[in-house]
Amino acid sequence: MFIEVEALEKTFTIRKRAGLLRREKREVRAVDGISFGIGKGEMVGYIGPNGAGKSTTIKMLTGILTPSGGRLRVAGIDPSRDRTRLAHRIGVVFGQRTTLWWDLPLRDSYALVHRMYRIPDTRFAENLARCVDLLDLGELLDVPVRQLSLGQRMRGDIAAALLHDPDVLYLDEPTIGLDVVSKAKVREFLRELNATRGTTVLLTTHDLTDIEQLCSRVMVIDHGRLMYDGGLAGLHEAGESERSLVVDLARETAPIEVPGARFVRAEGPRQWLALPASASAAPVVAAVAAAYPLVDLSVREPDIESVIAKMYGGTGGTPRAAGESVR
Ligand SMILES: Nc1ncnc2c1ncn2[C@@H]1O[C@H](COP(=O)(O)OP(=O)(O)OP(=O)(O)O)[C@@H](O)[C@H]1O
Ligand SMILES: [Mg+2]
Repeated sequence: MFIEVEALEKTFTIRKRAGLLRREKREVRAVDGISFGIGKGEMVGYIGPNGAGKSTTIKMLTGILTPSGGRLRVAGIDPSRDRTRLAHRIGVVFGQRTTLWWDLPLRDSYALVHRMYRIPDTRFAENLARCVDLLDLGELLDVPVRQLSLGQRMRGDIAAALLHDPDVLYLDEPTIGLDVVSKAKVREFLRELNATRGTTVLLTTHDLTDIEQLCSRVMVIDHGRLMYDGGLAGLHEAGESERSLVVDLARETAPIEVPGARFVRAEGPRQWLALPASASAAPVVAAVAAAYPLVDLSVREPDIESVIAKMYGGTGGTPRAAGESVR
């Protein structure tokens, strides 16, 4: 496995003021015993509600934070022990803050990255040209970072993270605040990067379309624990998601009763039924057609958003108190 995580833990100690003189210590188990492995070239989504522990995990994977317990290897390297060596193998994009130099034009930031990572000149030139082309950065190279829009800055950040040919790219909310067109561009770029370079990608996002379009595997984390690790299809099963069947009848009837489906509601001659997403709709459709004056019918697939919401709900996973949120 390219990334190995075993029983990983991170506990923060927060000192809270409790009254005038007293200070209380409180522990937050941000990551509470997580294990997973990621193979080379995989593209994995890492999702969960606010405060679940996603960013904390990523910070440990980059060596920014030292784990409180467990074992961690990225490309065979222990991130917190050998952060500098690891830096040559990984690229990181934090959507919430830039790694670029605020007052410098993009071009100069990239020149600094060139020197910091000692990237061979031809390699650097090739990678830069490729990023500029695919991320549409041509017009922006001479603009100081502080003058860039959020979407432009994000594309600039993604390029900066890739100039040294990292084997793995961590993206912590790379599409936050981007418009639809910019999001599509970023996704397209990541797909291309993964396909042509075999770059391993770990992607944290609250935009589930990112996951649906990019990741065949998704890990769901809540309260520092891994709740699900598997394919998107399996996530629907785990979340007990349901497809809905919209049935148009020739006239109003009593609520439809057929095996394998549940009546949800009716509006005149139109009725809504629900059936498990994992089951086939065919027998239900046949049963409705046989017993009711069926005119038209359509099936609506469950959206991943409601599935996740259900999962969070099922585990009692509410976002933590806002006062505890420290990024
Ligand atoms: N430096 C820190 N000191 C104290 N507590 C922290 C620190 N960093 C994170 N936490 C706490 O750890 C928990 C997990 O935070 P984390 O940033 O990993 O969540 P997240 O899943 O990335 O959430 P979001 O979706 O809001 O970005 C939260 O309760 C947070 O308040
Ligand atoms: Mg976060």
